[in-house]
Amino acid sequence: METSDIEGDLSSVLYTEDEILAKIASVARQVEIDYAGKDPLLVGVLKGAVMVMADFARELRIPATMDWMAVSSYGSGTKTSGVVRILKDLDADLHGRDVIIVEDIIDSGLTLSWLLDNLKGRGASSVEIFALLRKPEAATVHVDVKYAGFEIPNEFVVGYGLDFDERYRNLRAIGILAPHVYA
Ligand code: XMP
Ligand code: MG
Repeated sequence: METSDIEGDLSSVLYTEDEILAKIASVARQVEIDYAGKDPLLVGVLKGAVMVMADFARELRIPATMDWMAVSSYGSGTKTSGVVRILKDLDADLHGRDVIIVEDIIDSGLTLSWLLDNLKGRGASSVEIFALLRKPEAATVHVDVKYAGFEIPNEFVVGYGLDFDERYRNLRAIGILAPHVYA
């Protein structure tokens, strides 16, 4: 099934679905080694991480559970506000758990550094991060990302869960949104 209609709004495709799945599989192999004998709690950050979580969790060959949080750091535009709000909190008790935060993208790092502190403060045994994408040029705070997928240019990207104004999440590929779409 092609998604060519919405792919037409991209100025370029950065990663195809196959490339994304291969990257997720290689991260899963490493996580299987690092968490052997453990039962990690995967914490997905809604809504952007839905696709990463779905593919990553199914790729893992060790026991794992999933929970979800929704935080807000962006409005409807393309610039970060620096303000993080919890829109939906976790159901799970983090005491003694080995948590892996599953994120779509780390841009300024503000969201993840806040989230890391927040979850560590709930008594988790460990908290690590898997971020599929990272914009190194955009980092304003340093965040230790144990499992990093692709390093991307400092451009606004959409697809595979990532949105512009709630659109393009259902694109299978990840690409750079053409300026004419938001100009
Ligand atoms: P920070 O700056 O706090 O941002 O690391 C993390 C959150 O910002 C969103 N974000 C993007 N969303 N395309 C998107 O669709 C992008 O290029 C982009 N850059 C940042 C995203 O929600 C992420 O969780
Ligand atoms: Mg997001």
